[in-house]
Amino acid sequence: MKTSTLFSLFTSVLYYSVSVAQAEDTTETANITDVVVDNAAADGIDLFSLDASIINDALAEMEAVYEQVATVEGETATERKRSFRFDRRADRTDIIDVHAHTVPSWYKDLVPTTGGNPTPAWTLTDQIAFMDQQGINKAVIAISAPHANVFQGNKPLTVAMARTLNEAVSLYCRAFPQRLKFYAVVPLPYTEAAITEAKYAIQKLGAVGVVLSSNHESYYLGNAQFKPFFDALNKLGGRQIVYVHPAAPYVKSNNKLIEANPTPYPTGNIEFYFETARTLMDLTLTQTIHNFTNINYVIPHVGGAFPATMDRILKSVPAIYDSSLTIYRTRFWWDSAGPTYYHQVSGLLGYGIPTSQLLFGTDFPYAPIFTQAGSLAAVKGSGLFTDADKTAIFKTNAQTLFQNKL
Ligand SMILES: *[C@@H]1O[C@H](CO)[C@@H](O)[C@H](O)[C@H]1NC(C)=O
Ligand SMILES: *[C@@H]1O[C@H](CO)[C@@H](O)[C@H](O)[C@H]1NC(C)=O
Repeated sequence: MKTSTLFSLFTSVLYYSVSVAQAEDTTETANITDVVVDNAAADGIDLFSLDASIINDALAEMEAVYEQVATVEGETATERKRSFRFDRRADRTDIIDVHAHTVPSWYKDLVPTTGGNPTPAWTLTDQIAFMDQQGINKAVIAISAPHANVFQGNKPLTVAMARTLNEAVSLYCRAFPQRLKFYAVVPLPYTEAAITEAKYAIQKLGAVGVVLSSNHESYYLGNAQFKPFFDALNKLGGRQIVYVHPAAPYVKSNNKLIEANPTPYPTGNIEFYFETARTLMDLTLTQTIHNFTNINYVIPHVGGAFPATMDRILKSVPAIYDSSLTIYRTRFWWDSAGPTYYHQVSGLLGYGIPTSQLLFGTDFPYAPIFTQAGSLAAVKGSGLFTDADKTAIFKTNAQTLFQNKL
């Protein structure tokens, strides 16, 4: 075993002893497979509609992670207090990463490429090691594109995939309760099932928000069939958070979905930015963002291509020009993932988006490690912001948005 592996194992063990509030009421004898399968059945979801090779791998991985969870949650208050000092290390900088991804190994097997590039390998240990190296205290993790839409056109499989992913990711967070939170996936375009899943993930699994794909099987987020989903989220209580992650564009031809990439380059390299612009246009022109005022939005990559297209979109609808900009300045938060702080962020600032709406995101592990460090350095070194602005971008803006959910 390499020294570095040993070291990361060692640091992981230290972090397993991090404190957790609900330690006392955990039953050490819970069989996580039974809990997960039963909770799904209660919501009418048959996880075994997934191929046995998929669901068995997923449940086996959950059993393994649950052993770590049981250790963390089984600690006494004294043990938690004693071990808490080990977590201090991560408080050095207090950076909050609102754009990080998790890739269960069984999900990577199912989805070998993402946006035309190889899907990266990921482990829980890698995630925490990355955060420690970069001085990141907390990360909000999410499954990346294609999210739960792995089996296009198949409702039972999409619904079962969403539930399986949410259970898996929630266990990662329970293993590192001070460090990790998650955005839940939902099985859109199946609106009713997506409402059920969002409620379960937010109310039972502790998701801090939901990740929506820029399009779900070719339907952009303003699509009329999704309106009951936004309505339900809007009524769930408090402020709900929707994280709008880009995915590959699709067109329908003879009722078949075809990935729509008009260039010879990987979809993820540029189409993802256009996807963000397309879906924000749809959410704006349908007034979804205007009507459901209890929903806040996190938009990756400081809006992708959206800032470059905003006036083009909005000048044609003067009646909602001002109100839309007001929403982008107050209920939208824009993360820094990607090489966005060299120049691109100026596009947002040009529309009067205040620095209070800017968040830090890394895109780990999809963005290569050298670009990660580069993005962080770019935010730190940017001449556009004061030191106070940077503290806000790295930490306090996220705290304002997520409140006690972090
Ligand atoms: C949990 O129960 C399942 C059957 O429902 C079984 O296959 C599995 O081995 C059990 N896990 C543990 C850790 O006992
Ligand atoms: C939002 O409300 C406006 C009326 O104020 C209506 O025209 C529009 O269709 C509504 N859109 C949605 C998505 O509810």
